[in-house]
Amino acid sequence: MGITIGIIIAYLLGSLSTAILVSKLLRLPDPRTTGSKNPGATNVLRSGGKTAAIITLIGDVGKGWLPVFVALQLDLFPGWAIGLIGLAAFLGHVFPVFYRFQGGKGVATALGVMLAISPLVGGLVLLTWLVVAAIWRYSSLAALVAAGMAPVYMVLLGMDHWISAAVALMSVILFIRHDSNIRRLMRGEESRIGQKDKAPA
Ligand code: G3P
Repeated sequence: MGITIGIIIAYLLGSLSTAILVSKLLRLPDPRTTGSKNPGATNVLRSGGKTAAIITLIGDVGKGWLPVFVALQLDLFPGWAIGLIGLAAFLGHVFPVFYRFQGGKGVATALGVMLAISPLVGGLVLLTWLVVAAIWRYSSLAALVAAGMAPVYMVLLGMDHWISAAVALMSVILFIRHDSNIRRLMRGEESRIGQKDKAPA
């Protein structure tokens, strides 16, 4: 019962799109209609600038972090349930019930989940993103490398098998959600961080 409620709350929280809400509040273009059309911090940076992007980032990280952090603090749930709660928050962002299941790519929310599971794993994933982004200036490439490394960090640090499996599944879904980015990266057409033009859907 408690596990089901935790999963539902995490999914509903994940379904709240910070990018759409922040853009509405700040009277910015709907991120689903501009740039890459992705409701995420990278695209809000294109459509609304740094402040709106930072708020979006914090909101999207927070909604992944909060349910997992609370579930861990309650100390009531086994590892597999923690994994499912994190996965639910992530899936809420990717397939949100409030937006006809048309959501984002899940990068920031996955980071929030991982920071709650283990600040060390989350920190390593964030560091990976930052290093790749600093070198190549592609948000998507940084996300793909960080997502690829996340399950590796989980295993190397001896994290719970079920939670590691949930993180690996998030990485697979994140890769699938970046299919258009991968194609643009291969064609050399991906827009760099902060670049306002192109990034067609
Ligand atoms: O966080 C999403 C990022 O990896 C790619 O975003 O807008 O360039 O598709 P975008």
